[in-house]
Amino acid sequence: MAGSIVCLKDVHKTFVVGELAVHALRGISFEAGASEFISILGPSGSGKSTCMNMIGCLDRPTEGDVFIAGENTAMMSDKDLAVLRNETVGFVFQQYHLLYNLNVLENVMLPLRYQGIPIEQRKRRAAEELDKVGLSDRLKHRPNELSGGQKQRVAIARALVTRPKIILADEPTGALDSETGKSVLDLFFDINRQGTAVIVVTHDLDIGAMAPRSINLKDGLIVSDIKRP
Ligand SMILES: Nc1ncnc2c1ncn2[C@@H]1O[C@H](COP(=O)(O)OP(=O)(O)O)[C@@H](O)[C@H]1O
Ligand SMILES: [Mg+2]
Repeated sequence: MAGSIVCLKDVHKTFVVGELAVHALRGISFEAGASEFISILGPSGSGKSTCMNMIGCLDRPTEGDVFIAGENTAMMSDKDLAVLRNETVGFVFQQYHLLYNLNVLENVMLPLRYQGIPIEQRKRRAAEELDKVGLSDRLKHRPNELSGGQKQRVAIARALVTRPKIILADEPTGALDSETGKSVLDLFFDINRQGTAVIVVTHDLDIGAMAPRSINLKDGLIVSDIKRP
């Protein structure tokens, strides 16, 4: 589809654990437009994180196809896929995944190093992103000197600094109190309004319902795909 940033076609993912086959995804198909804001909902164990890992190409499906920006990822080498992922997708996780021996600015600069961008430009762009998330007065702080909400803002700045086409967030408010979670969510809405697709995984129905489109998973299948006017 023209304008689609992500497309999953009949994606299955089976994990083999000893003698046991766990069917985490049992045939997932959907398309996300380049300017959409989507929440992925479902109970614990329904396949949300596995689905996110497929969308973000952190793992490959057992069966089915994943297209990113129109490219079929099945045809790509791991190396080419890593390049496409770095250029296209920004990730945000529940536990922030910051490097605790680096300061805030250095954490946000890091993804640009993998793109071979000169250091002065890395510093400038990282500082710009941190300004947008309201943390320009915390550049030299270490992550352990920040609140949970501030840590998540650093993680969001890090996800945005590469100017991705899509942000994938897996339970980004899961470790935050509800008020802080709401302000983090507002930030995702701002990001979306500025033209980046956003997919947020959550088990919080209230948060999920704020999104213009919600995909509900159950036992590795999509049980509903709701668009709100
Ligand atoms: N790496 C893995 N190895 C084995 N089983 C896994 C793995 N990852 C997920 N699963 C299983 O797949 C199912 C879906 O997991 P997950 O996608 O993490 O669900 P959710 O994020 O909705 O809680 C669960 O039954 C889980 O135990
Ligand atoms: Mg999960």
